[in-house]
Amino acid sequence: MSLLADIEPLKEAALAEFQAAGDLAALEQAKGTWLGPHGEFTALMKQLAALPKEERPAAGKLINQAKSALEAAMTARRHDLQLKAALPAEPTDFTLPGRRRPLGKLHPLTQVTEDIVRSFRKIGFAVADGPEVETEYHCFDALNTPADHPARDVQDTFYLEDTDALLLRTHTSSVQIRVMKKQAPPVRILVPGRVYRRDTPDATHNPTFHQIEGLYVDREVTAGDLKGTVEFVFRQLLGGETKIRFRPHYFSYTEPSFEIDFSNSLTKKMGKEWLEIAGCGMVHPQVFENVGYDPEIWTGWAFGFGIERIAMIRYGINDIRLFYENDLRFLRQF
Ligand code: DAH
Repeated sequence: MSLLADIEPLKEAALAEFQAAGDLAALEQAKGTWLGPHGEFTALMKQLAALPKEERPAAGKLINQAKSALEAAMTARRHDLQLKAALPAEPTDFTLPGRRRPLGKLHPLTQVTEDIVRSFRKIGFAVADGPEVETEYHCFDALNTPADHPARDVQDTFYLEDTDALLLRTHTSSVQIRVMKKQAPPVRILVPGRVYRRDTPDATHNPTFHQIEGLYVDREVTAGDLKGTVEFVFRQLLGGETKIRFRPHYFSYTEPSFEIDFSNSLTKKMGKEWLEIAGCGMVHPQVFENVGYDPEIWTGWAFGFGIERIAMIRYGINDIRLFYENDLRFLRQF
């Protein structure tokens, strides 16, 4: 009889010990104490033999039920402790500063582009974007470029096969048209982007490079505004002592048109007094007509220049192809 009476209290004691086990090692230890080969329940089984024969089945059944309950409690407790072990000991403090990892840097062309954009943002220009696969209309026709203009030649422009009027834009000026067609004046935009020309790669040419286009349209905009703006931006970009000069030129989408030269210690280092840096002019009335702006009311100027060229002058880089090779020994210097 005393054996039967022992079972329930022993089970309760074992359950309490499993529950109290603070880690997996303590739980395994408790398992040994109660269920192991030399454990309390194994000992109980051995005592069965001492019971009168008719009491043995009932007692054996009770012991087995208790053992099953203990096995189940063990498994549940083990699961809890495993979960607990997987959690960090200390609660995570998400307000702590992050660890530093070497994150890499921005490409020099991106750095120069961001510098230019930052300067223009200061004077109210917003960044605009357009497609690199462009129509002949946006790239040439709407910009007043005649059908027989040499820039449109297949020798100079990548035309897409199987389409009549699609090409890879040769300049970011196409975005002027897209923006003006969509938006009523005034306009003050800056367009950084990739352009394509059928050039054989050498130290100063690559079939794809980057430009920045600017367009300003409002009432009574003058070439004086253009000159002042260009001077402000190039001084920010190339140093406060930079001088700017305009030379007459021809672009089909501006009249008058100019090329912009600059002069500073960088040009002198390259053995030159003046270096050509950009094209610009007053927006041609025909371009305004093409986009539906009234040229009697609206005036404007536009400019465009190559980002690689600025970066090469600024950093003293003598081969444009270095920008595209992704050689870390080159890129890490910026
Ligand atoms: N599109 C010209 C080029 O690729 C640059 C340019 C000149 C842009 C005059 C203009 C401009 O907006 O008015 O060389």
